[in-house]
Amino acid sequence: MPELPVGLLGCGTVGLGVARIILEKAELIRSRVGVDIRLAGVADINADAVRDLGLAPGVFTTDAVSIAEDPNIPVVIELIGGKTVARDLILRALSLGKSVVTANKALIASHHAEIAETAEKGNGELYYEASVGGCMPVIKTLREALAGNRVESAFGILNGTCNYILTRIAEDKLSYEQALAEAQQQGFAEADPFLDVSGMDTAHKLAIVVALSHGSWVELSDIYVEGISRLTPMDIEFAADFGYRIKLLAITKNRGNRIEARVHPTMVPFDNLLASVNGAMNAVKIVGDATGEMVLYGQGAGRMPTASAVVSDLCDIARNRACGIKNRLPIFSFRPGTAKPMDLLPMSEVETSYYMRFAAQDRPGVLSKIAGALGKQNISISSVHQKGRKTEGPVPIVLLTHRAREADVMAALDEIANIDVIAERPVLIRIEEEDR
Ligand code: HSE
Repeated sequence: MPELPVGLLGCGTVGLGVARIILEKAELIRSRVGVDIRLAGVADINADAVRDLGLAPGVFTTDAVSIAEDPNIPVVIELIGGKTVARDLILRALSLGKSVVTANKALIASHHAEIAETAEKGNGELYYEASVGGCMPVIKTLREALAGNRVESAFGILNGTCNYILTRIAEDKLSYEQALAEAQQQGFAEADPFLDVSGMDTAHKLAIVVALSHGSWVELSDIYVEGISRLTPMDIEFAADFGYRIKLLAITKNRGNRIEARVHPTMVPFDNLLASVNGAMNAVKIVGDATGEMVLYGQGAGRMPTASAVVSDLCDIARNRACGIKNRLPIFSFRPGTAKPMDLLPMSEVETSYYMRFAAQDRPGVLSKIAGALGKQNISISSVHQKGRKTEGPVPIVLLTHRAREADVMAALDEIANIDVIAERPVLIRIEEEDR
């Protein structure tokens, strides 16, 4: 049976999971793939990390470069993360003609062009299934299963930490801080959880989904990104009163020659499948013009689910080699230079419906002033609720709108901010009702 020596760079949470699968399921993998995938090199800065793996002598090193450059190791798995050391190692390995597997969504989202160019020049392969949605085959689905589709839209819950926090607040009334601490303890938050709660981790994944869906890359800095840290339990409860769950969604839509790409807390109706994706689970709803709606659901983070995606890439590379082929699939789903370039639709032109919460003095005429400002911008109200009544201090006035243009909503809110009885800038949450 042919043998494939692989090098593993980074033995943290996911790296250890990958090593375990390769070592403990060697027979299963051999019988599925027809290749003996062998851990020929493992690198980490911390020798203790691999203590329990029982590696053969000489396999472990603290020198990741020596593995990236080893002529006897044709496949390198990068699980170090970040955009500095990981980038150098990936580019080095690719420039030497090796194939690379990575889970590094931040790196791909920011450096896709040089990575793809280096892979093409070296005739190596680049696989990155674990970069989006943990164990869910999002990349395989977009690159392979939907090859005959125009992707109309994709809606993703792509960050387990945020979904865990939102679920624990909505269902168990935990505070934001308690829920985040739990997510960190359970090991699915990034080393710097700001990447999770700010929405940036989701934006990295969305950039990849956009490229594979539409054939165009969007600049990360051009994606509208709003995280979850400003959501309050009050809004999560009010949303539920109106029949919605709040989820941090990555959204992309094909608008003809333009695309939408945005990440923000989104109200999703209870009867939408995404509303019942709870805890650290991830899900992506993709709409293809031939498939219609389809949903992937699974663990988007954590050691073994993410390791499973890395190993599936490794198996693809091994199978290709066994057949004497390489690069059967274009790295980013479209043959380079063939997809029609599409511009990003500015956020100001996005249309959706909205939840607005105003903190207002409970006085006659307040509602008509708010409604007047909205009406002036052609924004139609679908529902209004004044929550509680106090004799002193502001009370929450919550209203939902029909579809409106973001620029018009912002103009109305600017006018409303100047109404003397409005205490503070209102809370705004976008509503996704694509299916209704
Ligand atoms: N920190 C990420 C999450 C995991 O919480 O989903 C991997 O992207």
